[in-house]
Formats: sequence, C-alpha cells, structure tokens
Amino acid sequence: MDKKRIYILATGGTIAGSAASETATTGYRAGAIGIEELLQAVPELQDFAEVQGEQIAAIDSKDMTTDVWLRLAERCEELLAKDDMDGIVITHGTDTMEETGYFLQLTVHSDKPVVLTGAMRPATAVSADGPMNLLQAVRVAACGEARGKGVLVVMNGTIESAREAVKTHTTSLDTFASPEMGSLGTVQDGEPVFYRQPLRRHTRESQFSVQGLAKLPRAAILYAHADDDGFLVKAAVENGAKGIVYAGMGNGSIPARVEKELAEAARKDVIVVRSTRSAAGRVTKAEASYEENGFIASDTLNPQKARVLLQLALLRTTDKDEIRKFYSIY
Ligand code: SIN
Repeated sequence: MDKKRIYILATGGTIAGSAASETATTGYRAGAIGIEELLQAVPELQDFAEVQGEQIAAIDSKDMTTDVWLRLAERCEELLAKDDMDGIVITHGTDTMEETGYFLQLTVHSDKPVVLTGAMRPATAVSADGPMNLLQAVRVAACGEARGKGVLVVMNGTIESAREAVKTHTTSLDTFASPEMGSLGTVQDGEPVFYRQPLRRHTRESQFSVQGLAKLPRAAILYAHADDDGFLVKAAVENGAKGIVYAGMGNGSIPARVEKELAEAARKDVIVVRSTRSAAGRVTKAEASYEENGFIASDTLNPQKARVLLQLALLRTTDKDEIRKFYSIY
C-alpha cells in the first residue's frame, strides 16, 4: 500500500529546544533547532509515512501570536485541500499548545487529521521525549481512524481532542490530559488506538473562518481572587477589549464588586463569558443575576479556550444569544 503523505509545520518549542548540557531540562532555548534537523533525528518517520516539513515560526510558545495562528490556519487549509496530502503534524511548545489546537479545531475546514505535538525535555537532553512524540504524532496523523476526529494533541502516548486537552503539570512528561472528558485514545508500541470521538462541532462543520484576516477582536482573561474589586475590568475595556473571560471561582462565581464592573462593561456591549479557575467541571448558568447581566457560561471550556471561542464568535456577531449558543455547540 502507498505510504500516507504527512506534512510537518514547525513552530518551535521545547521539542526544538537546545540546552547547555545533556542533563539540563530547564533554562534552555526553545525553538532553536530547525525542522530539517528534527526530521533527521527520527529517520523512522519515513517508515510510516512520506514526511516533509516546513518552518512556520521558531518561537517559545509563550510568545505565540495571532499572526502565527492565522498563518497556521491558512497553511493547514492550503495543504489539506491537496489530493496528495493526507495529514498535518504541528510541532509546538507545550505552554500554549491547547489554545493553538482549539483555534485550529475551529478554523481548519477538513476531515484530514491535524495533530499537534511537542516535548517537555529539550532535544539536547538525555531521554528527550520529542523524537518519540513526533513519531507517535505522525503515526496518528497517518492512521485512517484519526480522520474526522478534529484537531488532536498527541503527547506521551495519549491522544487528546484539542477541545479538551490541557497542560496539567509544569514539568512532567505526562502533562497533557482531558480532565473532564478523558483521552480519545492511546498510542501503544507505535499503534494508535481510539476509544471515543468528539461530539462538539469542529473543523469541517465549523462556522468560523479566518481567511484573509490580519487580526482578531481583542479579548481579555481576568482571573478571580480573594478580595478582587474588579479594577482590571475597567482597564480591559479602556484598552479596547470587545470581550472579557472572567476565570471565576468554582462554578464561574463572580465576587459582587467584580460583577458590578462586569455588568457595566456588558452595558457597553462588551461580551462577558464566565469560566472557572477550577481545574475541571462545567460552568452553568448559576445565579439569576448573571443571566440578567447578559453573562455567558463557558460550559467546560477553560478560560484560555473560552477566549479563543469568544474571539472567533465576535468575528461573526455581537448578539449575546447567538454567542451563548456557540458555547453549547463548540
Ligand atoms: C514552549 O511552550 O515553547 C516552551 C515549553 C515547552 O515546549 O514545553
């Protein structure tokens, strides 16, 4: 059988990181190694697919920008439209992988697999995890079962949906998980095995398009804490935020003083989404006043993913009911 054709888009991160010594696993330079060197380090890739690569960026993913997101979405759409292209693997820093993954889940309109992977140890470290993660990501992208399952995150032998994937640990190799829903599958001895599929709308069915765009509407995330008086709400609005995600307590609870400020922002047509600083769980309607103020519950999206959906929603509408519906569909 012909080998599948898989294209790698490299953006940097620890998988391309270089440290001063083989034992250093922190304090290294992310994104220092180019795609050609990464591919040469894993010759086994070519046993499972015809693999070529391209450098889109060479950054530490803490510095991820809208500009890189837009370039990635455009390049994925271009490549996947070709009959002779079967899937894409994106190498990416782990710090913002979950946001990039969810952004692409909503903006790349194809059934073909798009898989993000990275590493927790730099490429120069003893027992670097990057080569195995890259090999597993290519195996997943090249397997028929990954088709139609949306954008995936493959790290350390697990397959997560980009909607649910969260970086849960600062340094552990086993950092990605889907806290509320569980992984879609695993990669065992190089063999991808799926157990579930995402039901929320994604990729080919997504209503969102970023084609031809140069920027996205500004949206802020504000993080709840004891004695929060909401002074940052004003700062966000004054600095042009069209949307605010409030990472509230528990079930998206908002301290009374902050609620007053957010209600004022909502009256100025800023869209307010309630998410949570808790590690798992769904944010529901909760207090009647939240509904009266027009706040929208983020469902199971964490603040950083809720912000991605809010930015895309704001491209289409400022109608609160329509945006509320998006949070129940995507
Ligand atoms: C980054 O996100 O670029 C650095 C950290 C990592 O890749 O693990």
